[in-house]
Parts: sequence; structure tokens; C-alpha cells
Amino acid sequence: MSIGTHSRRDFLAGTASATALTVFGTAALSGVSAFATPSNQSSGREKLIPYGAAVRSDVLASDSSYRDAVIDNCKMVVQESELKWLELRPSKDEYRFEKADAIIDFARQNAIEVRGHTLAWYGALPAWTEAIGSRVEAERELTDHIETVVSRYRGVIPSWDVVNEPLVDWPESASSLRPSIWARRLGADYLSLALRTAAAADPNARLVLNEYDVEYVGPRFAARRKALIDLLRSLRDRDVPLHAVGLQAHLFASRSIDRDGLQALLAEIKALKLDVWITELDVIDYELPGKIGERDALVAGMASQFLLAVSEVVRPKAILTWGLSDRYSWVPTYFKRRDGMPNRPLPLDAELKRKPLFDVIEKFRRRT
Ligand code: XIL
Repeated sequence: MSIGTHSRRDFLAGTASATALTVFGTAALSGVSAFATPSNQSSGREKLIPYGAAVRSDVLASDSSYRDAVIDNCKMVVQESELKWLELRPSKDEYRFEKADAIIDFARQNAIEVRGHTLAWYGALPAWTEAIGSRVEAERELTDHIETVVSRYRGVIPSWDVVNEPLVDWPESASSLRPSIWARRLGADYLSLALRTAAAADPNARLVLNEYDVEYVGPRFAARRKALIDLLRSLRDRDVPLHAVGLQAHLFASRSIDRDGLQALLAEIKALKLDVWITELDVIDYELPGKIGERDALVAGMASQFLLAVSEVVRPKAILTWGLSDRYSWVPTYFKRRDGMPNRPLPLDAELKRKPLFDVIEKFRRRT
């Protein structure tokens, strides 16, 4: 039985979900395309900016209180790891879609939109990719992967972080690309190749270039803003398909937001007629004071400064945080606090209670 034989209401009610997973082959997915995603269905400008979060398939399955919190709070989800090469491609000839499909099935049952993350990144690559030895081979692997993944989810994943974190930490120019197997074998062509392949695989998908560390005061961040805008212009000059810039917004509470610098960047992005998405917001609190009330207020204040600066120039297409609850966050793995207290980077605490950061996001969702 093909997915195309079910109505969208069946999917929302969950009645067809088991079938959806078992028939998730390429042929069946062309049936999925017939179903509008929640965002495609809405007409005109939505009142609130959609809010969403990165989710993990394992805890969606094992932790029902977390799953309920996602359903209650998120209009959108993005897969924290399940669509990265490391998860999808255990070996050169294998695609493992089970975990990614589980999130898509969950989202469909609950009328939640799914974003795709990510297709061309230096990180989370399986070891076998290191053996890609030539330009031709790199071209083949990258295009095969993007064609396979994006066309599988055509009409199901309406926006993709196609390119993630292309620039080095302190770029001299737009050509200062972060080392990766793609940059090594293809140079800057990997960017246009990835974007063109994604556009061909799903002409309706919104294609996003996602970057971080572009919002702070300091010469490194100014250099990153300049390189990013030059990179966007060079893609535009060559008619490379691109619809939006994703600002990851992993905000370090110990740094200062460069309001003017950030707003100048956003004005340039707007002038290029590109949308802006806030894709991975959280506030890295490892250097903040330990007292919880004080810390939560500083975290919320940091996000508020950032969102205010953004919203004065553009209306982001969505605001996503990198996780929903402090119970499940990448931050302690990379930015553990020295005092042994748990990190509190996200809108809900570890007990799934709303924090001041949640209210800040709500406030900015309502700004038009
Ligand atoms: C992180 C995940 O959250 C971790 O679980 C994983 O181990 C490493 O990657 N920027 C990105 C995300 O674009 O893909 C990263 O996600 C966080 C930083």
C-alpha cells in the first residue's frame, strides 16, 4: 500500500503512521509529496513566528514527558543528529533512514513541520569519507547523498540546512573555507554543488546556509560577518540557488552582542532578498554565576538582546532552539560548568518547566 492512498487527516490522527514507516521507499515518498506540510497549508502571513526545537529520536521514544513537551510547544522540529552523515551513512553503500523516519513520523502525527539538518558539513562525517581520494569521487559522493536524501523527503522536509558552518573561525575572506573532505577535494565548488543538487532534488525546498559566531563584538566576529556576506554575494553572482541564511545563535552569555554589526549583516542579507532563520538558539552559560535565578535572568537577557537586534531588521522565518529542555542539551558535553552545577541553556528546565528564556522567545514570536 502506498502512502498516497492515505489522507492527510489519517496521518495527523496517526492511523497511517505505521504504514508510513514500513513503506518509506522512494516510490512511496513521491506519494508523500502530495500532502501539504503545515506551513504550506497556511495562507498568508502567520501571526506568530513559528517556534521549534532540535529533537532526539531515542528520547522521543523513551521519555513520554519530553515527547509531550515537544508536542505542546513546538510547531517545528529539526533532527539533532539523525540526518547527519554519521547517522545516515554507516558505510559507503548504505543509507539508514530509520531514526530520521521515526522523527518524521512523530512530527506528521502531531502536525509538526520538520527541518532538515545537514547535507554539507565538515562535522559528523563517518570515517569512510576520509578515503574519498579525488575530485570526481567527492563530487559523486556528495551529489549521490544529497540527491538520495533530499528527494526521499521531497514535500516532507520543506527547508534544509544544506551548507553548515562553511567558514573557518577567523576568515580572511569568503574563500577561507573550513577544512573538510569536501573543501579539500572540491574547493569552494562544494558549496554550489551541494546547493544545486538540493534544488534539483526538491525544487520547492527552502535552501539555507547555516553559520555561527556572527553576532558578537570583536575583530574575529566582524571578519566572520564580512566573509559571510561576501560568500553570499558570490553565490548570488553565480546564480546558485539559495533562499536563506540560518543564524545558529549559540549565544555565549559571556560575550557582547554587536548590535550594529549584526544589524548591518542582516540588512545586507535582506538586500540580497534572502530570508533569515534562527536555527539553533541556546545560551551557553558555563561562565555565568551559579545561582539559578540570576543565571536564568542573564540567559534570557542575552537572548532578548539578540532577538531584539534581529527583529528590528528582519522577521525570522522561524526561531528554533537547539533542544527544548535542559534535560537534553549538547551544551554540557562541550561547555560543562566548573562548579558542577547543571547547565541551563534552553527554554524549559530539566523538569520541563518554562524558564524566562521561554517567555523571551514567546515575546519575540509575537512581534510583527
Ligand atoms: C551537535 C549535536 O547537538 C551533538 O549531539 C553532536 O554530538 C554534535 O553536533 N552546530 C550544529 C549542530 O550545526 O549540528 C551541532 O549539533 C551543534 C553546533
